[in-house]
Amino acid sequence: MSHLKLALCGALAAAAAAVAGPLVAVAAPNAPDGEVLFRQRCAMCHSNVATKQVPLGPNLVGVVGRKAGSTPFKHSPALTASGITWDTAKLEQYLAGPTKLVPGSKMVVSVPDAAQRAALARYLATLR
Ligand code: HEC
Repeated sequence: MSHLKLALCGALAAAAAAVAGPLVAVAAPNAPDGEVLFRQRCAMCHSNVATKQVPLGPNLVGVVGRKAGSTPFKHSPALTASGITWDTAKLEQYLAGPTKLVPGSKMVVSVPDAAQRAALARYLATLR
């Protein structure tokens, strides 16, 4: 069944590319989707809604532009003292290895794939 779906998707993508030309090809059908990745890998510990909290991690609404470890969540002293102000580049670095960038950080999950880190950082920047 899923094979059939995949084949169908491929056929549709090919048809779309044929109609719309190179522009569609640039839109990279396999580019990782930050929002989907967030739901799969982050949402169990982080809320993306200002009025909701997830007990296991800080709320990530407005994370770009704010000081690391500055939410009401019980942060590690290391993250709060890190002096980092989050931008997308720093977020990508953190996601590559939280305790490498900030030894003593309480976040133990990392994202090995650079394209996925970039997609996640772009998505986090949209959380307002
Ligand atoms: C198992 C729970 C868990 C998962 C899964 C998790 N995190 Fe975290 N995250 C944490 C905790 C705990 C902290 C607080 C770290 C600290 O205070 O040192 C944190 C901190 C952060 C921060 C810093 C927030 C701030 O205000 O300084 C960002 C950004 C972040 N996580 C992004 C992500 C992303 C993106 C994902 C998904 C790829 C993710 N996290 C997955 C637990 C998690």
